[in-house]
Parts: sequence; structure tokens; C-alpha cells
Amino acid sequence: MKKILLTLVLSFTTLLSAQAAHPQCGETELATIMGEMKDDMKAIKGAAKAKDSDKVTLIAQQLLVTVQKADAYVPLAISDKKELTTQQQAKFDDYKKGVSALEKAVTELTLAKTADEQKAALGKIGKAAKKGHKAFKMDCDD
Ligand code: HEM
Repeated sequence: MKKILLTLVLSFTTLLSAQAAHPQCGETELATIMGEMKDDMKAIKGAAKAKDSDKVTLIAQQLLVTVQKADAYVPLAISDKKELTTQQQAKFDDYKKGVSALEKAVTELTLAKTADEQKAALGKIGKAAKKGHKAFKMDCDD
């Protein structure tokens, strides 16, 4: 009986640790960049709500610069090392495509002439983020 209990406890803890996120989860340079993007998006949505189109354009230009920085960092879910295996490199290339899609949508936002055009571009940004997170963002268990 004792043995069974011990086995149960051990397998349970192994299960837990297998699910635990990476110690650097949410602490990477990419996470910091993403945090900046989140702040910009919040400001953009506020400006759009206040019908301040010029402000939307201005912050979108700022966001574009930040998005371009994100291209250089390997998501933790792919690797925590600089050297990538062929398979990891392929995933990183996919990630970069996702960042490009986001860059395109943000560029569209900077060029949007009307509130409707801005709204459409914001929709594309939201979709790109959702897709990118589903594929490449690790869940931090905090
Ligand atoms: C404007 C659009 C986006 C916003 C506002 C955004 C926001 C965020 C936020 C708030 C986090 C969590 C950061 C933390 O843990 O402190 C995050 C993480 C992450 N996001 Fe985004 N994101 C966007 C687009 C994307 C796209 C398009 C991709 C992929 C192509 C992506 C990939 C990731 C990854 C991989 C992480 C985890 C960071 C890591 O691996 O270290 N995000 N994002």
C-alpha cells in the first residue's frame, strides 16, 4: 500500500513538473517587447474610441518600430538557446512570417485614412496576434 501511494505521489509530481512552464517564461526580451506592444495597442484603442485619428496614426508608427524589433528574437517555446536545430530554425522562420503579417497590418493602420479603415486594420492586428500566440506563445503558470 505504502509503495502504491509513493508511486502515486511521485508520478503526480512528475506530471506537475512536466507541465510547469520554463523558468524564463514571461521574463525574456521578447516578452518585454510584447509588453510594449500591448501598451501601444491599449493607447491606440483609447485614441480610436475618442475618435482621435491622428493620435491613432502616431502611436501606430511607434508600434511599427517595436514590431520590427520582435523579428530578431526566438520565442521561448521554440528554444532558449542561440544555436537552433534545423527543425527549430524552420519554426523560427514560421514565427518570422507571423511577425511579417503583423507588420503588414500595423503598416496598414499607419496608412489608414478613415476611422473605418483604421478599424479594419485593427481587426487584422488582433487576428495576427491571436494566431501568433496560439502557435508560439508558451503559457506561463504564474
Ligand atoms: C499587437 C499585437 C500583439 C500584442 C499586443 C502582443 C502581446 C503580447 C503579450 C502581452 C505577451 C506576454 C508578455 C509577458 O509574458 O510579459 C506576449 C507574448 C508573446 N507573443 Fe505576442 N503580441 C502580439 C503579437 C504577436 C505575434 C504576431 C506573435 C507571433 C508571430 C507573437 C508571439 C508572442 C510570443 C512568442 C510570446 C512569448 C514570448 C517569449 O517567447 O518569450 N505575438 N505577446
